[in-house]
Formats: sequence, C-alpha cells, structure tokens
Amino acid sequence: MSIDWPGLRAAAVAAAGTAYAPYSRLRVGAAGLASNGAVVTGCNVENASFGLTLCAECGLVSALHAAGAGRLIAVSVVAADGAPLVPCGRCRQLLIEAGGAGLLLDSDAGPRELGTLLPDAFTGTDLAERRQLDD
Ligand code: THU
Repeated sequence: MSIDWPGLRAAAVAAAGTAYAPYSRLRVGAAGLASNGAVVTGCNVENASFGLTLCAECGLVSALHAAGAGRLIAVSVVAADGAPLVPCGRCRQLLIEAGGAGLLLDSDAGPRELGTLLPDAFTGTDLAERRQLDD
C-alpha cells in the first residue's frame, strides 16, 4: 500500500487543531493509515486532574478500533507547529499493539520503524507464553 506522507501529516496537523490542551498548551495531533485504507486521527485531551490526560495516540487507537479499520500501517504525530513529535513511551506501547514493530512513524529524516523506538517490546505473545493458567 502506498503511503501519502504529506497527506498523513496534514491530517495530523488538522487533528492537533482540535486538541484540548489548556494546561500544557501543547496541542498534539496523530493520523494513521489503517490496513483497510482509511485514515484515522486523534488529538490530546487534558484534564484538571493532570494524570488523566489522554495523548493524541490514545484517541487515534480508539478511532482505529471504532472504525473497524484493521491495523495501523503508518502514523504521523505532530504538534500544532506542524513538525513531527516522537511518541511518548506509553504511546509507543499502545502503537506497537495496534501496528506491530514494523509500523512506520513519520519523522523529518524519513519514516522509521516503531520497533527501533521500542526494541524488545512486551506484547501479547509474552502473556500467552508466560502466564500460569493453573493459579
Ligand atoms: N502528548 C501526546 O499527545 N502524545 C505524546 O506522545 C506525547 C505527549 C501530549 C500529552 C499532553 O497533553 C501534552 O502532550 C504534554 O505532555
């Protein structure tokens, strides 16, 4: 599947425009190309109880599932200034579950694989192989 990186980044910038970030003042938008060809988006949503903040990638993954759009193939995360933003650690974990280590992330130096940003990730495979069902 061909990836329209400028289009994906533009969708992420548009999503950043819808962010609710009155506390940090950092508006973040995320846009992802899904395996069914759809583009899904998310924005950060903050809360007066700071720890409840939802990153843009949380909204993106929720939108992916709500649309039944499949897996994530490529993702652009930006701040409102239009430049790519590297996903936080928690969101790397969210994204790897939705797209795998081969998920491509937008960057000014060109797309890079999520697996390079979260090597040796803990995944559902670890659960399946290690859990003790007789406890
Ligand atoms: N933020 C994201 O939306 N995604 C990230 O990957 C990093 C951080 C948001 C959360 C918070 O609303 C603001 O950026 C400042 O941390």
